[in-house]
Amino acid sequence: MAAAVTAAVSVPTTKSSPLPARTCFISSERISFQKTCLYTRNVATVGKVGPIRAQVTTEAPAKVEKISKKDDEGVVVNKYRPKEPYVGRCLLNTKITGDDAPGETWHMVFSTEGEVPYREGQSIGVIADGVDKNGKPHKLRLYSIASSALGDFGDSKTVSLCVKRLVYTNDQGEIVKGVCSNFLCDLKPGAEVKITGPVGKEMLMPKDPNATVVMLATGTGIAPFRSFLWKMFFEKHDDYKFNGLAWLFLGVPTSSSLLYKEEFEKMKEKAPENFRLDFAVSREQTNEKGEKMYIQTRMAQYAEELWELLKKDNTYVYMCGLRGMEKGIDDIMTSLAERDGLVWADYKKQLKKAEQWNVEVY
Ligand SMILES: Cc1cc2nc3c(=O)[nH]c(=O)nc-3n(C[C@H](O)[C@H](O)[C@H](O)COP(=O)(O)OP(=O)(O)OC[C@H]3O[C@@H](n4cnc5c(N)ncnc54)[C@H](O)[C@@H]3O)c2cc1C
Ligand SMILES: NC(=O)c1ccc[n+]([C@@H]2O[C@H](COP(=O)([O-])OP(=O)(O)OC[C@H]3O[C@@H](n4cnc5c(N)ncnc54)[C@H](OP(=O)(O)O)[C@@H]3O)[C@@H](O)[C@H]2O)c1
Repeated sequence: MAAAVTAAVSVPTTKSSPLPARTCFISSERISFQKTCLYTRNVATVGKVGPIRAQVTTEAPAKVEKISKKDDEGVVVNKYRPKEPYVGRCLLNTKITGDDAPGETWHMVFSTEGEVPYREGQSIGVIADGVDKNGKPHKLRLYSIASSALGDFGDSKTVSLCVKRLVYTNDQGEIVKGVCSNFLCDLKPGAEVKITGPVGKEMLMPKDPNATVVMLATGTGIAPFRSFLWKMFFEKHDDYKFNGLAWLFLGVPTSSSLLYKEEFEKMKEKAPENFRLDFAVSREQTNEKGEKMYIQTRMAQYAEELWELLKKDNTYVYMCGLRGMEKGIDDIMTSLAERDGLVWADYKKQLKKAEQWNVEVY
C-alpha cells in the first residue's frame, strides 16, 4: 500500500535549484527533506586518489580481473511490466529550475513501499494516465532514477525522478506538450503513478570503492549521477565506503537551470579530496576562443588530466543526456588518443568491453 500524503511541499520561486529545507508529511509522520538528505547520513572519509599509471602504449592497458557490475545477482530488472505496473503515489514534486530558465525541470519522489527494488544507475518506466489518439493506453516512457537505492528519505521505500517538461512548436506552428513529461511535472502529492521496471544495467556503478568515476551529464542526464553521488557522499553502507575520485561535469543552458547545485556543493565541502565538480553553462559562458561552453568544451580544459585518468584500469566514465554530447566528447578524445598514436574508436571499444565507458544518451 502506498503511503497517504497529507500535505504538500513548498515550491521555490527564484532562480537556481536547491532542494530546499522543505517539509512534507507522509502518513502523518513529519519528515524534514533537507535534513534527511544532507545531514543524517555519514560521509565517506577523505582519502587519497591512487597514483596515475602514466604509461604510453599503442594498445589499451592490460586490464586486471574485475567483477562485472552486470553480473550482480541482486540487480532486478522488469519486476513490473506495463500490463501490471506498480502503482505508487507522488509524495513530493518540486520545480528545480528558476523561473527564467529555458524550460522547466522537476524533482519528484514516489512511494514504492520497497516493492520496486532498484540500483543506482537504473531507470523506471512511467505510464501516463489517459489514452492516446487511438484510444489506447499511453506507452511507457523511461526515466533515469535520480535517487540512490535508499531513496531520498533513506528508507528504501521511495524512488525519485528528474524530469524536463517537453513543450515544443510543431511544423504547423502549434504548441505541443509531451505526454508523459507533462503528466509527471503536473503530478500533485497524493496522486497515483504507474511504474514499470526497474530496467537497465549499462549505468550501474562500478563495484570498486576506490575507483575514479567520471560523470558526464547534460540537463536531466544528471539523474543517475545524483543517485551515484548520494551513495558515495551522503550515505553510510556496511559494504561500501567510497574512497576514490568522483568527477562530475554538468552541462546546462543557464545558471538558473543548474540542477541540484547546492547538493553537489555540499558534497564538495564534505569530501573535497574525493569530489570534483565542473559546470558548463552554455548560454552564459564561453572558452578563451569565445566558443559556447558545452560539456566537451569544459572537458577540453582538463584534456591531459582526463586522458591520463583514462589510462588507469579503475577509471570509469559514464555519459548521460543529450545524444549530441557523445560526438562532441568523442571528438576531443580522438585528438587526445592521436597524440599517443591511438585510434580512439578502437581504444573506446576496449574501454566499453571493460565496462569503463558507459553511455546512455537520448
Ligand atoms: C533510458 C532513458 C532515460 C531517460 N531519462 C530521462 C530523465 O531522467 N528525465 C527526462 O526528462 N527524460 C528522460 N528520458 C526521456 C523520456 O523517456 C521521454 O522521452 C521524455 O520525457 C519525453 O516524453 P513525453 O511523453 O513528454 O513526450 P512525447 O509525447 O513522447 O513526445 C516526444 C516526441 O515529440 C517529438 N518532439 C520532441 N521535441 C520536438 C521538437 N523540438 N520538435 C519537433 N518534435 C519534437 C518527437 O517526435 C518525440 O519523439 C529518458 C529516455 C530514455 C530512453
Ligand atoms: N538515460 C538516458 O538516456 C537519459 C536520461 C536523462 C535524460 N535523457 C535525455 O537527455 C536530454 C537532456 O535534455 P534537457 O532538456 O534536460 O537538457 P537541457 O536543459 O536543454 O540542457 C542540455 C545542455 O546541453 C547543451 N547541448 C546542446 N547540444 C549539445 C551538444 N551537441 N553537445 C553538448 N552539449 C549540448 C545545451 O546547450 P544549448 O541548449 O545552449 O545549445 C544545454 O546546455 C533529453 O533529451 C532527455 O530525454 C536521457
